[in-house]
Amino acid sequence: MQPTNGSVFIRGMGSHLPEKILTNQDLSKLVETSDEWIQTRTGIQSRRICGKDEYTSDLAVAAAEKAIADAGLDKDAIDLLIIATITPDMMFPSTACIVQSKLGLENIAAFDVEAACSGFLYILEMASAMLHTGRYRNALIIGAEKLSSIIDWKDRSTCVLFGDGAGAAVLSRTDEPDTGLLDSCLHADGTRPELLQMPAGGCQMPSTNESVENRCHFLKMNGREIYRFAVRGMERAAREILERQNLEIEDVDWIIPHQANMRIIETIQERLETPKEKFYNNLQNYGNTSAASIPIALDEAYRQGYIQQDNTILCLAFGAGLTWGSSLIKWHKS
Ligand code: ACO
Repeated sequence: MQPTNGSVFIRGMGSHLPEKILTNQDLSKLVETSDEWIQTRTGIQSRRICGKDEYTSDLAVAAAEKAIADAGLDKDAIDLLIIATITPDMMFPSTACIVQSKLGLENIAAFDVEAACSGFLYILEMASAMLHTGRYRNALIIGAEKLSSIIDWKDRSTCVLFGDGAGAAVLSRTDEPDTGLLDSCLHADGTRPELLQMPAGGCQMPSTNESVENRCHFLKMNGREIYRFAVRGMERAAREILERQNLEIEDVDWIIPHQANMRIIETIQERLETPKEKFYNNLQNYGNTSAASIPIALDEAYRQGYIQQDNTILCLAFGAGLTWGSSLIKWHKS
């Protein structure tokens, strides 16, 4: 099998959100907060939360089924499955293997990638590179999270920010050059893990009575530092990819930023001197769904008819790691 010369494009998209809605008013009964504080500081109004027996793999399967149907492919045509998540069903086996079994996909490569909220852009690049080898035909990539399972519902500084959900894409090759995924810029800086982490559950701090009592199995975040890093990282990644592709921001039709905080998105918009109408946002309904955030937004923007054939789309992400990056996509539906 020979490496290919054409492009890799998103052939189908799908997303899935759990039914249960948790509003800011609901949260104000759990912790000392208010709808006014949450909306002013973040733009979030509500988020979706999984039921007790609903797992990351279930969200991923539901999103994947829609993406496969949208791609118009038989599921047996898929031979690669990559899932980005920081909330796998369990430490191992991978959620990708669980999803493979639930979808009834046989004899395919399946694995998870952990790059937090930048995860979907990482797996988009990775699956695209694997398809370009010519050794795989069609890839299913999914960002899926049950963040409600690692949220400290007593910590008002984090519990208001996050939600559950999944977004999926089927990627295929085309002989047509310069379409689909045009470029990716991915970055990481592991020097400050304490800014956003879940300290326990790995080999450094296995589960003990003490780790549970000290609430170390929950997400911990330095909000202010992450805010600064998010603005810097996403602006840098946007400028880098545009420069590399000899494009101006005016050449971009849609910007899909990681849906973490409306104030972060507005600051990016000001720094890039771009009209806010170019940004597709849905964080008011779902909060921050980490690796699922960009594919859910991309899927909604596409299904609602905003994204059109040959549109140029700039995706921007940042997350724990720290990780950040950008992807430039020319929308191509076969
Ligand atoms: N309700 C009411 N008051 C609150 C709440 C709340 N939910 N949370 C914090 N406060 C209080 C604080 O205690 C503080 O009170 P004090 O002044 O008496 O100490 C005050 O509000 C201000 O707190 P700040 O942390 O300074 O508030 P800030 O304006 O920075 O907003 C926020 C906090 C929304 C978390 C912001 O820093 C942010 O969005 N940061 C980025 C977070 C992010 O994007 N994380 C996702 C990372 S992606 C991933 O990989 C998971």
